[in-house]
Amino acid sequence: MRKTSLPILILFIVVLVTFLSYNFKEDVKRNTKDKAFVKVDKENDGRDKKIGLKSPEGRITSLLEKSNHSLVPNIVHYVWFSVDERLKFHQMISIRSAYLFIKPEMIILHCDNEPVGRWWKYVKNFVKTLIIRKTTPPREILGKRLVKVEHQSDIARIQILQQYGGIYLDFDVIALKSFKNLRYYNFTMGLEYFGTPGRLNNGIIISERNATFLRMWLDSYKTFNPSEWDEHDCQEPYKLMFKYPHLVHIEEKTLNYPSGKPTELKLIYEGLYNWTANYAIHTWYRLYELEHGPDSIKTMNTTYGEICRLIYYGNSTLIKPKTRLKG
Ligand SMILES: *[C@@H]1O[C@H](CO)[C@@H](O)[C@H](O)[C@H]1NC(C)=O
Ligand SMILES: *[C@@H]1O[C@H](CO)[C@@H](O)[C@H](O)[C@H]1NC(C)=O
Ligand SMILES: *[C@@H]1O[C@H](CO)[C@@H](O)[C@H](O)[C@H]1NC(C)=O
Ligand SMILES: *[C@@H]1O[C@H](CO)[C@@H](O)[C@H](O)[C@H]1NC(C)=O
Ligand SMILES: *[C@@H]1O[C@H](CO)[C@@H](O)[C@H](O)[C@H]1NC(C)=O
Ligand SMILES: *[C@@H]1O[C@H](CO)[C@@H](O)[C@H](O)[C@H]1NC(C)=O
Repeated sequence: MRKTSLPILILFIVVLVTFLSYNFKEDVKRNTKDKAFVKVDKENDGRDKKIGLKSPEGRITSLLEKSNHSLVPNIVHYVWFSVDERLKFHQMISIRSAYLFIKPEMIILHCDNEPVGRWWKYVKNFVKTLIIRKTTPPREILGKRLVKVEHQSDIARIQILQQYGGIYLDFDVIALKSFKNLRYYNFTMGLEYFGTPGRLNNGIIISERNATFLRMWLDSYKTFNPSEWDEHDCQEPYKLMFKYPHLVHIEEKTLNYPSGKPTELKLIYEGLYNWTANYAIHTWYRLYELEHGPDSIKTMNTTYGEICRLIYYGNSTLIKPKTRLKG
């Protein structure tokens, strides 16, 4: 028995390796031909541009010069306001991605109550630099009451960045590379809706401690109305960007593109988007809602599948279901 099983095992491995490498080459070929595979415009990959970055309409939106030394501390912040809520798989992927690619000195979870569940246990075990900081949700700003938890979180992230500086991430943001380049600017946000701008998305903010832009932004909340949705958290910074272009660096497509617009959301959950230029992919998970786990991401032939595999398995290529030999 033993004498015959070794050659069969070797043969099996050779066949499997050949099969996998053939399939990998095929994928790469098919991907480049695919229409859904959008090329990133080199013009808009503004990582190293110093000044004069323009909006898609050609307006200058960013005059902040890149410093010759790093200004933003390499700290990642998350805000979690909830009671007894499970940390979900996609949220774990976000934290894991920040840990692996941003390599922060620390990841601080600012929370009223810690998350619960399997993936939270996993995070606490995996992330060696995790700090849990208990904080109460802000209940008011400049005399205006904050009722919705979303608005409490909007204010909390601004105040946290004023106090510590660093990189604020929403739980549906997946980091794909180091943010080092961006830490040379006092303050950075990404355009939301690249094709039809009007917002800077506050799901990703890179800021030095006490940045001037943060103060201007927080100050704008004096006109806050508790019944609004994103007027102050996303539209206001967009307006401030034109008022104070020397205070903010804008990334046009490397943080929040593709966006949550239906056509762009398809690039994340149905198509294959070339994300190699992105610092992060903002997954707009709330608009997708399906929950995944380590098994179902193996065969998801989509951008989301690719980046989940990259973060969880260390490789973005599809993982074939196991093949069995008869006998
Ligand atoms: C993955 O999707 C692309 C297009 O979205 C398709 O061309 C390719 O054949 C798919 N690959 C596999 C292995 O199904
Ligand atoms: C950074 O630039 C300033 C002037 O812009 C210069 O004085 C300083 O020496 C530079 N620092 C480094 C480390 O190059
Ligand atoms: C923040 O900046 C303002 C204005 O420059 C300054 O007055 C204040 O002392 C700074 N606060 C901290 C904590 O550095
Ligand atoms: C950005 O940071 C540099 C270095 O600390 C400082 O000299 C400059 O005034 C800051 N710019 C703004 C707009 O705060
Ligand atoms: C993806 O985009 C990068 C530039 O960001 C480019 O170098 C690369 O060739 C692109 N890949 C494909 C398959 O088009
Ligand atoms: C991912 O896997 C493919 C094929 O299995 C391999 O060619 C590639 O080098 C791997 N990439 C990384 C980053 O390990």
